[in-house]
Amino acid sequence: MEAVSRTAQWTAAARALESERPDRIFDDPWARTVAGDVGFDLLERYQGAAVAPFIAVRTKYIDDAVMRAVAESGARQVVLVAAGMDTRAGRLPWPDDVVLFELDRPALIEAKDEILPETVYRPRCARHAVPVDLAGEWAQPLRDAGLDVTRPVTWVVEGLFFFLDQAEAHALLRGMAGLSAPGSVLIGDFVSRASLVNPFASAFLHALREDGNPWRFGTDKPAETLSEAGWRPSEITQPGEETASFGRWELPVPPADRPHVPRSFLFTATLDR
Ligand SMILES: C[S@@+](CC[C@H](N)C(=O)[O-])C[C@H]1O[C@@H](n2cnc3c(N)ncnc32)[C@H](O)[C@@H]1O
Repeated sequence: MEAVSRTAQWTAAARALESERPDRIFDDPWARTVAGDVGFDLLERYQGAAVAPFIAVRTKYIDDAVMRAVAESGARQVVLVAAGMDTRAGRLPWPDDVVLFELDRPALIEAKDEILPETVYRPRCARHAVPVDLAGEWAQPLRDAGLDVTRPVTWVVEGLFFFLDQAEAHALLRGMAGLSAPGSVLIGDFVSRASLVNPFASAFLHALREDGNPWRFGTDKPAETLSEAGWRPSEITQPGEETASFGRWELPVPPADRPHVPRSFLFTATLDR
């Protein structure tokens, strides 16, 4: 498995910790299994950017946003872009007709199938794993796997954009818009540009670089980044704001218009046509 794919075990380890709290805000019963020792080692190694509360908040925000998109927009094809060790296929109460696609690198998909055989993991919807390089050609493999471009899609891009460069991030955003029928929804997260050079997270950023996973893409204008690619933001929020706190975020929330602040954005967008 490529180094970047091990970061999927890192985020799974954070989901395991949240799931094991008595006051958990979601339950991922497979998180500890898919994280393995690697995931917990990385949780130790990549300290300094409030990872555990951030992953808890991000997971819950996206769980709720996806359920809303599927129920209210009727976008019942769900694509988890860079799914990693995401177990939403088995975790969320999907309506019967949901078809879910998981895109990630071939080695990650193979490893996930080995760690989670069907005896251990039962998806609650039709699920298709699609091995791709998201910095290359991924649209045709997704269509070949059964994505119907005449029907709306709920796209989830969680924990990926910072690993891409700017051109790759923009191409991905445009590519998703190009495959999206009206009614489609995009849900995901960005970091700000200051997060890429945050002196208070320098050990964290250095460790990621050293492991071959440097953070590369950030934006201070998430609304513009989305709309330039054909997406109309319906919500852009930050951990700690009213719609993205869930009792987990104890750090101050910087005002939305303050520049040069290390921060993360969580967003929901719809197709701009
Ligand atoms: C931090 S993990 C996030 C996984 C999952 N979405 C989550 O939030 O737990 C990053 C994921 O991006 C995938 N990834 C990174 N670059 C990729 C690329 N060029 N093509 C396919 N997948 C990629 C990795 O394999 C890994 O699963």
